[in-house]
Amino acid sequence: MDRKKIIIALDVSKIKEAERLVDILSPHISIFKVGMELFYSCGPKVIDIIKKYDRETFLDLKFHDIPNTVKNSAKVATRFGVFMFNVHAQGGTDMMKAALEGAEEESQRSGIDRPRILGVTVLTSIESSEGQVLSLARLAKQSSMDGVVASPQETKAIREELGGDFLIVTPGIRPEGAEKGDQKRTATPKEALDAGADYIVIGRPVTKAKDPVKVIKGIK
Ligand code: C5P
Repeated sequence: MDRKKIIIALDVSKIKEAERLVDILSPHISIFKVGMELFYSCGPKVIDIIKKYDRETFLDLKFHDIPNTVKNSAKVATRFGVFMFNVHAQGGTDMMKAALEGAEEESQRSGIDRPRILGVTVLTSIESSEGQVLSLARLAKQSSMDGVVASPQETKAIREELGGDFLIVTPGIRPEGAEKGDQKRTATPKEALDAGADYIVIGRPVTKAKDPVKVIKGIK
């Protein structure tokens, strides 16, 4: 499996632990996800650590606020030099367009590449209907998002309806036999990729493992 397809969620609160994971996993992984726990604990310096290993960051802060606030936050995320960040599609078209506008303006001003922006459909810890996820994915596409975060179970339908160049990122990934934790709509890495996911996000099955490298090699 292409190492560019697996994103590891660094859901830890100590910078040392994050760096340990990046250090051992970077030979196998190109993109690390920085979510609320790590970002609120350690701030943007974790993004610099990932850059030091020549790897990319998916900043998973799921912006959901008034358009002006989201636009300015998108500018900040762009200044960090992240590869990708996300907003809640439920925030609506004006909010999603504001995120794109902020990222584009800051990218033009600073010369930093514009990050890809994803719309989060429905959290994978929540039961939901395919129709609800599809309509949010449609809204994200109409609002010029680069793609969506969705569960593996809706990936096929989104791919069929919204086409090949719309990114689909799927969390809720559990290798055969792994514990589900709080995730409800899960699939194995192979199932998610076969359904058409561009990237799969894996957290606890790797980060809480005794030997994370062994788990990654097993998945590949
Ligand atoms: O540990 P686990 O593999 O469940 O981690 C999944 C990661 O993906 C977590 O960081 C979680 O915040 C994130 N995520 C999710 N569902 C979404 C969006 C993000 O599980 N819809």
